[in-house]
Amino acid sequence: MQKILFATSEVYPLIKTGGLADVAASLPRALLKLGQDVKILLPAYSSVLEKAKTTGVKEVAKIEVDGNSISLKQTRLPGTKVIVWLVDIPEFFEREGNPYCGPDGNDWIDNHKRFYVFAKVAELIALNQVNLDWQPTIVHCNDWQTGLIPALLSLHPNRPATVFTIHNLAYRGLFSHQAFAELNLPTVFWHHERLEFYGQMSFMKGGLAFADFITTVSPSYAQEIQRPEFGCGLDGLMRYRKDSLTGILNGIDTDEWNPGTDPHLSCNYNRRTLGSKIKNKLALQEELGLTVDAEIPLFGFVGRLVDQKGVDLILEQMNQFLNLKCQLVVLGSGFPHYEKALKSIAEQHPAKVAVTLGYNESFAHRIEASSDVFLMPSIFEPCGLNQLYSLRYGTLPVVHAVGGLRDTVCEQTLESEAAEANGFVFGGATSEELFAAVQRAIFLFQKKDQWKKLQLNAMSQDFSWDASAKEYLAIYNQITPQ
Ligand code: ADP
Ligand code: GLC
Repeated sequence: MQKILFATSEVYPLIKTGGLADVAASLPRALLKLGQDVKILLPAYSSVLEKAKTTGVKEVAKIEVDGNSISLKQTRLPGTKVIVWLVDIPEFFEREGNPYCGPDGNDWIDNHKRFYVFAKVAELIALNQVNLDWQPTIVHCNDWQTGLIPALLSLHPNRPATVFTIHNLAYRGLFSHQAFAELNLPTVFWHHERLEFYGQMSFMKGGLAFADFITTVSPSYAQEIQRPEFGCGLDGLMRYRKDSLTGILNGIDTDEWNPGTDPHLSCNYNRRTLGSKIKNKLALQEELGLTVDAEIPLFGFVGRLVDQKGVDLILEQMNQFLNLKCQLVVLGSGFPHYEKALKSIAEQHPAKVAVTLGYNESFAHRIEASSDVFLMPSIFEPCGLNQLYSLRYGTLPVVHAVGGLRDTVCEQTLESEAAEANGFVFGGATSEELFAAVQRAIFLFQKKDQWKKLQLNAMSQDFSWDASAKEYLAIYNQITPQ
């Protein structure tokens, strides 16, 4: 049995800004199901402490790091048996805003200190130097916020093995040399083979250079990040580490995302009662003031409104899109210029386009269930969870063939079997190719039998964590003494 310390900066439902939170909730659960001992390590943000009250919170240790006195608290992931250790440093984590930036949208200026101290706590737990009487065999780190952990642990000969998962290489955790000097890190780390990145410090490099094994969240992305186009300046390092790098496709929480039982929906449905899906669409059209009509294909988009998600491609083709018989519902938040542009389109075309800015978990579920087609034209996408949710809800995705989108969505072509087809795929990141794929979707929407066949294909696929959790376990076993 492995003892796994799973370090993450977010975990659903305690705190979530994106897919990392979903993965950090469901992978540890799947590992527990495989008989492993997993503890999640998470910063105790104010909202986390508030939510954790319902499950119960108790202090399990007191820790001292560079003069900061830290309380380590224990709770459980709501509705599960997974133990979560909360690193409570009020000065760093109890603030309004999100985990990484303040209410004004700017990064917290002390992010380097916040996640350095978090890493130091992980290091002490990993070395069993905290009064917990528990030492992990594996420390599994996720994204730049945890990147210093493998680096710090590399300084100790008798340390647990480390795994670093890249959820998104684009966020490299960059800070100035001055910030490096403010942390109590060995000066040898300031080197281009360690943390230094073109004159800056990269937390992400800590994970990439020092972890015993690196994973990322889809096989295609593992290949793509070895190329300059997707490597964010780190492709050389990814190629250097390619023998210790693999892509494991994310799973989804099939209880949370189940159209048969989802409490957020107007009407539950499954493969056998697929005919009831339409009730969700009619209810949403009504609610949003769109023309209520089953025959108008409804396109859905849920996500962060940032360059990565291909919002530009959608905006560039909006006029042509508006000429087609279709509707669009958008839920998201992000860059103000995208928010403004989308909101103004919705105001001009209220019967066709509905845009909701902000974050709304329940509404995200309803869009997945109500839409006929899910738009995900991401420029790059390490894995992507929304296309997996939409497949499970019989909502056919339109995707750009990159990363996890390429690995999970398949369009029927002369080469691919109809039996595998579950959506629409375009090859080049251009608005013209997106638009052509949208037109193919609208065309097929009218062929009711073929459409239903694709929906059933999509809904029959297994995106549970069972297989992927076993792949992680195989890596843990490979890098620890048996
Ligand atoms: P990423 O992690 O890059 O944002 P993913 O597709 O992996 O992309 O995961 C995004 C997750 O965040 C999904 O669970 C999605 O439903 C959710 N999400 C994104 N934006 C919103 C929003 N505005 N409201 C509710 N959920 C959202
Ligand atoms: C990142 C990626 C997304 C992935 C998620 C969970 O946020 O952008 O593609 O699904 O992490 O791994």
